[in-house]
Amino acid sequence: MNLITYPGTPLHGEISLPGDKSLSHRAALFAALADGESRIENFLVSGVTQAMLEALTVLGVKWVLEGKTLVIDGCGVRGFHNPVASLDCGNSATTTRLLAGALAASGISAVIDGSPGLRRRPMDRIVEPMQKMGVNIQSTGGKVPLVLHPSTFPLHALNYTLPVASAQIKTCLLLAALAADGPTILRESAFSRDHTERMLRSMGVKVTTEKVNDNGCAQYQTILTPPKPLSLSPLSISLPGDFSSAAFLIIAALITPDSSITIRQVGLNPGRTGLLDALLAMGADIHITKQSDHNGEPVGDLTVRHSKLQATHITGDLVVRMIDEFPVFAVASAYATGTTMVSDASELRHKESDRISALCQELSVLGVQATETPDGFTIQGGKIPVGGKIQPHGDHRLAMSMAVAGLAAREPVTIQDADITAESFPEFIPTLQELGAKLATAS
Ligand code: S3P
Repeated sequence: MNLITYPGTPLHGEISLPGDKSLSHRAALFAALADGESRIENFLVSGVTQAMLEALTVLGVKWVLEGKTLVIDGCGVRGFHNPVASLDCGNSATTTRLLAGALAASGISAVIDGSPGLRRRPMDRIVEPMQKMGVNIQSTGGKVPLVLHPSTFPLHALNYTLPVASAQIKTCLLLAALAADGPTILRESAFSRDHTERMLRSMGVKVTTEKVNDNGCAQYQTILTPPKPLSLSPLSISLPGDFSSAAFLIIAALITPDSSITIRQVGLNPGRTGLLDALLAMGADIHITKQSDHNGEPVGDLTVRHSKLQATHITGDLVVRMIDEFPVFAVASAYATGTTMVSDASELRHKESDRISALCQELSVLGVQATETPDGFTIQGGKIPVGGKIQPHGDHRLAMSMAVAGLAAREPVTIQDADITAESFPEFIPTLQELGAKLATAS
């Protein structure tokens, strides 16, 4: 399917968004590990979360999805069945890495595999520390397929500094640590989203995080103490709207003249909201109201109005707090005055696409001067992008970001293979249309 976005119509209105992707993955998997029935409202029904649910089915977990309500019959940390087939994680690195940690704690044999795109993503970052814990896991040259065999229990508690600040690595290791012989200590150089820590706490697990000084360097240290007996309480929660989906709408409203929108009850976990800090520094008109705690996660309403933006420099810890938002942030930078620089972001090369290279390549198609650097990019803003035909490189966020760029460009922008948007935000097209954007699809 091709998606065409047309410039010239302002965005207006109030909307709510489907549930958060990171929280949906965690809620489904952690509920499967719990003892008893969990109920999860506003679950994200999308390509990547479907991969998680199908993997749980192969592991013998019973679940029912009615609309956006997921009910899971948890089988306990040691309750998975040995799968008869390999677990197909599709394009989802989150499913792969989280599942690997849960399987390590469950002690069964399994093979984790996925799409050609997933087979390019680095997995040595979870395999090496899990091997230190005594997990019987092998990768295929540092990638999937991953092969797990039963390990000797309990696993060894780990005291480890992550090679990159990453919530996926952290979550994988915290799940494996449930089956360890003592407290596991993990350190990261920057604060990554702490959804796992919050959710595990609500399920009765002792997990703490504090900022510590390690030889003059600030580190975020997370300590998990395995529960005795090894049991997690079931969940009864409703998930907030996905901040990363909201990001596309935020930028759409900021760059499209005369726009003013409100996005209700979006998740505002501090590990996710780096984009807001970056945009506010650029002069964006964004207001947060109705802030509250929603099942242990901060939420709020975001009101966003068209704004004149100035260039900025993104570096250091902020990169981790906006790791998924760089494609759409780059679009905002193209509409800003001045040269925006992103550095310390080489991790972007290991996402659904090499987001540094693919992003610069596709922005250039729209006449934007975007230049790759080894660990980031620079964007010369201020020249309204022209129209063009975009190839999303199999990357859902690149597809949606370039579609947003078309809402304020000189001519329409066509996104080829736009079905990929359904991986994380199947309601992307109708949501933009509801806000008044002009879009069309063609096969
Ligand atoms: C995620 C963490 C991030 C992010 C991904 C989802 C998660 O990856 O890019 O989309 O749910 O934990 P890293 O933690 O590897 O940076």
